[in-house]
Amino acid sequence: MTDVFGLSHKDPSPVVHPGRHEQVVFCSDERSGLYAIIAIYSTALGPGLGGTRFYPYESEQAALADVLNLSRAMAYKNSLAGLDHGGAKAVIIGDPSTDKSEALLRAYGRFIESLGGRYYTACDVGTYSEDMDVVARESSYVTGRTEAHGGAGDSSVLTAFGVFQGMRAAAEHAYGTPSLTGRRVGVEGVGKVGHRLVDHLIEEGAEVVICDVDERAVDRVRQRHPAVRVVADATALTSEDIDIYAPCALGGAIDDDTVARLNAKIICGGANNQLAHPGVDKQLAERGIFYAPDYVVNSGGVIQVADEIEGFNMARARARAAKIFDTTAKIFRLADEEGVPPGAAADRLAERRMSEVGRLRGIWLRR
Ligand SMILES: NC(=O)c1ccc[n+]([C@@H]2O[C@H](COP(=O)([O-])OP(=O)(O)OC[C@H]3O[C@@H](n4cnc5c(N)ncnc54)[C@H](O)[C@@H]3O)[C@@H](O)[C@H]2O)c1
Repeated sequence: MTDVFGLSHKDPSPVVHPGRHEQVVFCSDERSGLYAIIAIYSTALGPGLGGTRFYPYESEQAALADVLNLSRAMAYKNSLAGLDHGGAKAVIIGDPSTDKSEALLRAYGRFIESLGGRYYTACDVGTYSEDMDVVARESSYVTGRTEAHGGAGDSSVLTAFGVFQGMRAAAEHAYGTPSLTGRRVGVEGVGKVGHRLVDHLIEEGAEVVICDVDERAVDRVRQRHPAVRVVADATALTSEDIDIYAPCALGGAIDDDTVARLNAKIICGGANNQLAHPGVDKQLAERGIFYAPDYVVNSGGVIQVADEIEGFNMARARARAAKIFDTTAKIFRLADEEGVPPGAAADRLAERRMSEVGRLRGIWLRR
């Protein structure tokens, strides 16, 4: 039998973070083929919020490890985004291109509903706003819906805006001015987040160089901004003489080789889990490279979907995402003061808010 709550203590695998989760729920509906795991890491700051990943995991154990990690990461992201939400995430085991159906999504919605609001779901890899509309037919605890259903639409709009704000804060820390005018920025991956980041950078007067494995994505940017330079791949991009490196493709972009090769002074991008292993944070600090922690600067998307829960207001959500500038600046200051890498400083700040604000639940209120 799977020892869910003991897993993180017994399993020496580096992919499973330590720490106990509040609640882990296995959801199965044989007829529709639903097999999902919902993990709530913490509700110290409010109901758990995090997306649903629909993915053909090789094993239940792999799915469990992923959802435990992802839900914990959401607790830290939501905390530093200033949201009244704890960390949670869900995975549906299966191939979204063949296994997704109305019945499966609605069965899943009923399990979410059964948690009575302890978990709010949204999109992630393999799920889209249209899917959330279907899940929402069975549950009130769904966000990231289509605009036609009162949702916020594509979350990459504020994700890119937040990354841009984080980059300005990193520039202020590194150069004494937040202006990116004339700075050379390398953007790896110009998909939903990356191409919007390029728009902000060009508007600011930065020089941009990009790479992407998808020729169509490259062409779209070239057509909008003919001055943008294109290089062959990520290795070429990180070998360029750039000031700022923005990983906006897949996780694990910053490994030992990238650290050794990189000329950039700043790393700030939208991709999740950028560091290939935890030691990279320290290596970057030792090389004098300012790393803006990924989960801090890419939190614009979750800010957008959290706002939708109150009834979406773009101006309000954008104002919240603009605060990513202040949070990033604070992390760099704290890292200097405490002599730790920025990733460790971010974790400390997130834990502090979870503890200080979460503690207030101890003041009894009649509800
Ligand atoms: N969309 C959001 O709101 C959001 C929010 C938070 C974090 N993120 C993270 O940001 C990253 C990008 O998300 P997205 O929504 O833009 O996805 P996307 O799929 O639209 O874009 C990713 C782009 O990266 C390109 N790519 C893939 N491998 C590459 C490689 N080896 N070298 C260069 N380019 C490569 C793809 O072709 C694609 O154009 C992901 O890591 C995602 O988890 C996204």
